[in-house]
Parts: sequence; C-alpha cells; structure tokens
Amino acid sequence: MSIEKAAEILRAGGLVAFPTETVYGLGADASNPRAVAAIYEAKGRPSFNPLIAHVPSLKEAERHAKLPARARALAEAFWPGPLTLVAERLPESSVAELACAGLATIALRAPAHPVAQALLHAFGGPIVAPSANRSGHVSATRAVHVREDLGDRVALVLEGGQSEIGLESTIIAVSADGRATLLRPGAIERAEIEAVTGPLAAASAKISAPGMMESHYAPRARLRLDAAAPEPGEAYLAFGAPAPEGGLTLSESGDLGEAAANLYAHLRALDASGAAVIAVAPIPARGLGEAIRDRLARAAAPR
Ligand code: TXA
Ligand code: MG
Repeated sequence: MSIEKAAEILRAGGLVAFPTETVYGLGADASNPRAVAAIYEAKGRPSFNPLIAHVPSLKEAERHAKLPARARALAEAFWPGPLTLVAERLPESSVAELACAGLATIALRAPAHPVAQALLHAFGGPIVAPSANRSGHVSATRAVHVREDLGDRVALVLEGGQSEIGLESTIIAVSADGRATLLRPGAIERAEIEAVTGPLAAASAKISAPGMMESHYAPRARLRLDAAAPEPGEAYLAFGAPAPEGGLTLSESGDLGEAAANLYAHLRALDASGAAVIAVAPIPARGLGEAIRDRLARAAAPR
C-alpha cells in the first residue's frame, strides 16, 4: 500500500508529499536533521524559516510543546483540523532544532485529512511539512501541482484529490501567560478563533511567523488587486460574477469558501495562460476573505 511505502521512505530520510485539508505538505521525518535539511533544499527555502511539525493529536503535540490552557482549548476546538499552534518547545522534543530554525518555540498541527492521519499513524512520529511548493511560489492544492513545482525532488506524492480548503492553516502563537496572537490568518476565520480565545493580539514585529515575508504565494505574472474590470491584455480573476472570456472566477455566487478552494489553482492556470498581469476582483474582508486578501497582498508585493 502506498501509505506503508511513504512511511518507509520517511524512515529512510526521504521526502514524501501528502494531502492535508488546507494544502499539500512536503513531509520529512521531523527527528532526522538530514531529512529536514533536504526539505529546505528541495523548496529553495531560507533556513531561518521554521517548519510546522505535524502530529496526529493533542496528546502527541504535548510531547513537543508546553501548551498553556488556552492553547489546549484551541486544540480541543479545532484539532484535527486547519489550525497550527506555536508554543514553547520542550527540551525533550524529538523534533530537530533545524526544523525550528533555532527558535525557543515550535509550530504544531494535527491535520484532519484521512491520508495525512494514516501517514502519521503508519510513520509513528512527528512529520515536518511546509507547503509542497518551491519557496515563494503559490501553494499546491493538487498532487499535479506538487509534481510541477518539485519534480523528482520528492520521492513520492500521495494522491488526495483537490485540497478541500485551499488556504494554509491559521497560525496562532500562545505565550506562557496565555496570550494568543494571530500570526497568519488562514482556513479558520478570526471570529471562530476569538469565540475560544477572546480578542486576538495582532502579530508584532517581535513575535511573528518568520515565513510571512512581504512577497510570497506569488505566481509569475504581476497581480493587480481590487480591479473592477481587466485592462486590455490582462487576465481577469473574477469574484461574485461569471468568468469573463480568457479569465476565471473564484466563485460565481460570491462564496468565500469556494473562492479559497479555487485561489491557488486559478492563479496557476492564469499564469500558465501567459498573461503578464492578472487583475483580481475585489474580495470582501469578512470571514475567510481576510486570509484570501492576505495571500493576494503578498502575491502582489514587490519581489
Ligand atoms: O496549512 C498549512 O499550514 C500547510 C500544511 C502542509 O500543514 N503548511 C504550511 O507550512 O503552510 P509553511 O512552511 O508553508 O508555512 C508555515 C509557516 C511559516 O510562515 C513559518 O515561518 C511559520 O509557519 N512558523 C513555523 N514555526 C514557527 C514558529 N516557531 N514561530 C513562528 N512561526 C513559525
Ligand atoms: Mg508555504
């Protein structure tokens, strides 16, 4: 079975891409520094940018981090699922220091996707996995996108169809005194999180996700945001309207969940059409729109 084969590759220090409900991950044995280094190399990722360690459950997460009560409450509300928690790393954690980029904290996520869960159980240890794309590029939401970006740098890509959510996990840091900070808006809407934590603190320069560089999640084409209509020669990414000729729509009905699921695949497709500029319709900032707008702003940022 391919899950067993994938677990074997991980044990041997190889890289395996696997589906999660957010985006595809590029996995390695978290406890093997050479395997972790191979991830940075395959992605062309700067080594100061730490990785998320994936675990099957809250119980396993507690072997790696000191989780304050508020972090446990978040895990109980949203795990398994599209949430990543950043908390103080335990000295006895088996996760390689390289994966944490020398920080005193560790990022942990228990994904819900059945293939991800099966892999975690078959492997039997934490799996570090960034999104399975070249560094700075659009995340992969289909197995074929992983192959396009990483080619044979990855030994095996587990097929899991189209990522259901299509945006990366929401990342929340919880400090020892229980203060929760939103480091990356994502698949879980702010309001759902705040129902558990109360008002979230905004990420400051001091505590932030090192990977949240200004330019990220970017296609080859330049992006023009909040565009009511395309200029001549631009490809258009519509929202709340049908796809125009030569363009695509994130959601004809204006559904933000559908838009999130389509975002990266549509950016890749319009990129492949050869347009120099992709004009993107205004996306409302409510609900999942916060995370979609965050990714679009980074994709449009100067490189
Ligand atoms: O949905 C997701 O989160 C996907 C799937 C595969 O789980 N993974 C993902 O990983 O998006 P990646 O590496 O593309 O993004 C992880 C982010 C980076 O911005 C990184 O800087 C941040 O998490 N991060 C990791 N460890 C951290 C830490 N200790 N403190 C702050 N930020 C951290
Ligand atoms: Mg990424």
